[in-house]
Amino acid sequence: MVYDLLIKDGTIITDSQIYKSDIGIISEKIHTISENIPKENGKKIINAKNKYIIPGGIDVHVHLQLPFCGTVSSDDFISGTMAAARGGVTTIIDFATQDKEKGIMYGVDKRKAEADGKVCVDYGLHSVLLGWNENTAREMPKAIENGIASFKMFMIYESEGWQSTDSALFQALEKTKENGAFICIHAESESVMKILINRYLKDKKQTGAYGHVLSRPNYIEQEAVQRAVLWTEKTGGRLYIVHTSTGEAVEIIKSAKNRGVSVYAETCPHYLLLDESVFKDKKTGHLYATCPQIKSKNDQEKLWNALSDGNLQVVSTDTCTFTKKQKDMWKGDFTKIPYGLPGTEIMIPSVYTFGVLKNRFGLNKFVSLISTNPAKLMGLYPQKGTIMPGSDADLAIFDPKKKKKIDFKELSTNCDWSPYQNMIMAGFPEYTLLRGSIIVENGNFIGKPGSGKFIKRKTWGKL
Ligand code: URP
Ligand code: ZN
Ligand code: ZN
Repeated sequence: MVYDLLIKDGTIITDSQIYKSDIGIISEKIHTISENIPKENGKKIINAKNKYIIPGGIDVHVHLQLPFCGTVSSDDFISGTMAAARGGVTTIIDFATQDKEKGIMYGVDKRKAEADGKVCVDYGLHSVLLGWNENTAREMPKAIENGIASFKMFMIYESEGWQSTDSALFQALEKTKENGAFICIHAESESVMKILINRYLKDKKQTGAYGHVLSRPNYIEQEAVQRAVLWTEKTGGRLYIVHTSTGEAVEIIKSAKNRGVSVYAETCPHYLLLDESVFKDKKTGHLYATCPQIKSKNDQEKLWNALSDGNLQVVSTDTCTFTKKQKDMWKGDFTKIPYGLPGTEIMIPSVYTFGVLKNRFGLNKFVSLISTNPAKLMGLYPQKGTIMPGSDADLAIFDPKKKKKIDFKELSTNCDWSPYQNMIMAGFPEYTLLRGSIIVENGNFIGKPGSGKFIKRKTWGKL
């Protein structure tokens, strides 16, 4: 057997196994996993001795070139996916906003036209629902047929025109009981938050960016998560909570799971690595604004524990990058900061460094959080999210001992600062493979924009 690419002597890590073997790849797929495949059988060889080989990362929460907060997020489909590749992420899931008149598929086709020809890794799309009516109900099955297995709804952002009412959420959840899709929910309680925002805005000169923290106490997320979970329980629907940031939300998710409610949830590196003290710096605090905002060290610990014990199942990044100039649009008003942070490029290194190397959990759990669980939940498994014959040859190969100091100047993310500047992380890939093609070599991007493709996803994902 002659392989297009032969990976020799690496340590393969999946969500359930760790073992030494060779991997033979033929036209985009993993063909053979076996020890001692002769070198002569490979048209090209990668020497992976003393390296870890993991399934390519799957970042299920990414907003590239998103028009938001009066500007457009600075990572486009090229820079954002190049950054993904250099961080070992081979699939991202971005969002396609429903057009209020023309419907769900119009939004999906429009977003695909923006991404195709540019993406450096594979991608899927969640559809963003802006409410609920008969047309939306009618179009949902068509979207599912076209590989859109999840629908995002926002409980906030009335000013962006994105907010869904409880009745919309309830009816959408009812449909997911029949069709197996997920409702991905941004859970923050907008009406109470607005009262608090107006109170703290009066002192905005004094509070600065910390007003973002004061106006969003933990109960803002807690109440919304509780409400969304209740509607899920009563409808028998299927819920995926995005960017979980509080210990309170974790407790609600845990008890719902114990009652058999179909609820899954993610958290993101900024909630795991940073804490709310970042907002106190008068010069740089506003740069860190994202929704929900970064919480306390206590929450941080609870989120790590929830990843370890399975109450949170996924780490994604909610990448929504803004440059310093964009962030400076706030001019001292914490409600006018473009909300969002860069992330995909450091997703795998951050979970490996602060999860595995800090002994919070082992290598199998690490792989499950950044690849296998997202693949299973989001309808990509076993095409993606694992290393087995027949799966796409999406792989990240890294030296477990090699560390680097984060410097925004060296990253591919289109940003002139980094929330993680000067942190030391391991887990950056030496090689990233997308469907058998080497797109990162020696840490450098060598792929081609446009070589990524849209991936249709299946419904009824579960763990
Ligand atoms: O502040 C954030 N997270 N920006 C992106 C939009 C969202 O809420 O996910
Ligand atoms: Zn959100
Ligand atoms: Zn988001």
